Order: sequence, then structure tokens, then C-alpha cells
Amino acid sequence: MKNIVILISGGGSNMAAIVRTAQAQNWVKQFNAHISAVISNKADAKGLVFAKEQGIATAVVDHKAFADQPQPREAFDAALMAEIDKHQPYLVVLAGFMRILTPGFVAHYEGRLINIHPSLLPAFTGLNTHARAIEAGCKFAGATVHRVTAELDHGPILAQAIVPVLPDDTADSLAARVLTQEHLIYPKVVAELVSSTC
Ligand code: GAR
Repeated sequence: MKNIVILISGGGSNMAAIVRTAQAQNWVKQFNAHISAVISNKADAKGLVFAKEQGIATAVVDHKAFADQPQPREAFDAALMAEIDKHQPYLVVLAGFMRILTPGFVAHYEGRLINIHPSLLPAFTGLNTHARAIEAGCKFAGATVHRVTAELDHGPILAQAIVPVLPDDTADSLAARVLTQEHLIYPKVVAELVSSTC
């Protein structure tokens, strides 16, 4: 079985889109793949409720618990890796996981780690992508699914979706338009990756 582990920090709507697609397309039967865990760095991440309702194993590794360690990022990532590796993942899917990962973490999951970012990379890496796209006068915005490399929001692009930026857009209205497209491209990419070798 190809185990998929999804990491979230908040609402988890991309995670939910992947879970629903996996159910609708019967990935277990089609690809011998299933979503084995949803892990969050925040105990109050809303997406955890949905995952539990779907009968998916959930876990929380709170980054704040490592704040007083000599190397907090490394310590957090080590604990996160231990939690993820319980599921022997074929694929680790970052879905609104708002943590910068250490090079050690990225190397550990090389070839198995993907992310979705709410911009047309390589434009607008980092935070506040929608406000920055509006501020820059962009006529189009979008989202990118990419493999994760040690450099933040870089790595080979697997899929992109494009939406128009409308004259009266706010960051929130643009984010909502982009998010509907994220929900289409992210499950598609995950399906492609788990279907590559049956
Ligand atoms: C999504 O728009 C995703 O692209 C973005 O956070 C949102 C999470 O929504 N990710 C990043 O900004 C990563 N740098 P969700 O929790 O509802 O899936």
C-alpha cells in the first residue's frame, strides 16, 4: 500500500479536497494508495476535525513545544519526521503547512515531498502572496504545486492553475478564487504521483 501523509496548519481545505477525491476515485482499488495520516503543528487546526470524521489517523506535533531547545527547528523537524515515518509514507503532502522546513527534513523525504503555494511561482514566494500580486498590478494570479527542495517555495513545478485578478479584488477575494483552483490541481497531482507505479 502506498501511504500518503498530509501535513496541515489550518483549515485543511486542500487536504479535504484530496481526501474526497481519493474516496470518489477509490484510490485504494485504483492505485493501491490511501491517506494514512493527517498531521498538524497546531492542535486547533480545523482540518483535524474533518480528518477524524473521515476515520483518518491524526496527530499533532506542536512546534511551540520545542522553542526552548538549543536548535528548535531541527528538534521540531526530528519529532515531525518520527511521527510521519510511523506511516512509512510513499508521499508527504504539504497542504497549507505553514512551517519552514530544515534541509535535513527535505533531504529525508527527497522525491516524496510536495507542496502547494498560492502564487504562480517563481513569482511571490513566501507570505501574503495575494496582496502582493494585487499591489504589483498583476492581471493574473494562481497556485503552484511543486516538489519541495531546500530553498523555500522553489523546486520543480508539477502543476499550475491561473485565475484572473479582477479590478475590485481584495486579498481575500483573490485568495478564495485561487483556492477553488487549488482544490482541483492538488488532488490531480497526488493521483498522478501515486498512480505512476502500481
Ligand atoms: C492554501 O491557499 C495554500 O496554498 C497556502 O495556504 C492555504 C491553506 O489552505 N499555503 C501556503 O501559503 C504555503 N506557503 P487550506 O488549509 O484550506 O488548504
